[in-house]
Amino acid sequence: MTISKRNALDMWNEQFSQFKEKGIQYFEPNSWLKSYLPILHDRGFNQVLEIGCGSGNDTRFLVGNGFKVTATDFSEVALSIVESNIPTVQILHHDTQNKFPFEDGGFEFIVASLSLHYFDVSLFKQILGEVRRMLSDKGLFLIRLNSVNDEDAQKVHVIDRYFYSIDSCRELFEGWKEIELGEHAIDYYGKEKIVIEGCFER
Ligand SMILES: C[S@@+](CC[C@H](N)C(=O)[O-])C[C@H]1O[C@@H](n2cnc3c(N)ncnc32)[C@H](O)[C@@H]1O
Repeated sequence: MTISKRNALDMWNEQFSQFKEKGIQYFEPNSWLKSYLPILHDRGFNQVLEIGCGSGNDTRFLVGNGFKVTATDFSEVALSIVESNIPTVQILHHDTQNKFPFEDGGFEFIVASLSLHYFDVSLFKQILGEVRRMLSDKGLFLIRLNSVNDEDAQKVHVIDRYFYSIDSCRELFEGWKEIELGEHAIDYYGKEKIVIEGCFER
């Protein structure tokens, strides 16, 4: 059986409008990025690009820890939430499938939490090429992706979603230096989610 795919942008805008109505909850004290603070500080990193920031949970954590953050998303509703809650962030309305309007090597690290598993392998590799281009020498890419071991992997979805194992993630990052790669059970908006989390050096 085939199901009709809803327009992904409409779905995200609808979801973030519901968040807005209910009141945004931030949970940055438990941020997954906490464990990377030592390496980011040791390297003296400051400039970060966040891809697919959503309502800004990681954005707030990064700003709160003194980083200069540029956050992108294609959902205008998500960006309006970020703009009104995190005034110091620079936001950019941008579809991740398109080339980013940033110079080569302009960011010391790039963060993409649960925002790149919507693209097929070929598109993912193209985006990874952009990430590489925008990172400075020895810059870091911190990423979280859906795991094949998450219960959602068995479900039919209204928009495309891809699920990764440690091995398939490692394959995508061939040519990068692996700093950290593992599978974790996280609490995501009150629900357990199994994710692949990685930190790769350019
Ligand atoms: C699961 S949310 C993750 C949000 C946030 N990074 C977090 O971890 O809570 C996925 C985000 O990716 C964004 N997104 C999905 N496809 C996108 C695209 N083609 N271009 C830009 N953003 C996209 C959605 O709007 C949404 O904000």
